[in-house]
Amino acid sequence: MKPYEKLLLENKAWAREMLENDPAFFDRLAHLQTPEFLWIGCSDSRVPANEITNTQPGEIFVHRNIANMVIHTDVNLLSVLDYAVSYLKVKHVIVCGHYGCGGIKAAMTNHDYHQILNMWLRNIKDVYRLHREELDVLTDEENKFDRLVELNVQEQVIHLAKTSIIQRAWKNEQRPQLHGWVYGLKDGIINPVFEMAAGTPIDSLYEYDDL
Ligand code: CO
Repeated sequence: MKPYEKLLLENKAWAREMLENDPAFFDRLAHLQTPEFLWIGCSDSRVPANEITNTQPGEIFVHRNIANMVIHTDVNLLSVLDYAVSYLKVKHVIVCGHYGCGGIKAAMTNHDYHQILNMWLRNIKDVYRLHREELDVLTDEENKFDRLVELNVQEQVIHLAKTSIIQRAWKNEQRPQLHGWVYGLKDGIINPVFEMAAGTPIDSLYEYDDL
């Protein structure tokens, strides 16, 4: 059996098991999804949103990219955000990074990863520059790496709050709450590191006053 054929076989077994536990499962989900959460995570195969939160299909709307970035020209991310916030009416948006993130590690080097990856990693270097004072004094490379992972999550949450999508929902519906989490590859535990409740003030440069 080829490796990908195993996936298809496992899928059949999974579908059968789901039906045994809950005969209406697929019928119900085929008609409606009402997730409470939008998850913006890293593409890393070791950080699957549903498994690590023990949630089922239908519970979390998911976007993943390298190093869980919120980049204001990323039409893919913004479409997912707009749909989740404006149409699915999610109550929480979670940016979940992880310790040991390859994207963050790469951004801490001076290596040329060629244009496309360089472009993406540039945004992480900008986070480092913003927090250079705090990071430069950390002499232990592991500590510095871990802290940049945390600060990156924090900055991406703040980027969410800079969008008109979030600001409009905050103004009209006092949701969603924004969360910055970091998952530990070594222990499987999620560490909440940052939070913004609806209406949290942000730098006025980024505030829309005519929403
Ligand atoms: Co990663």
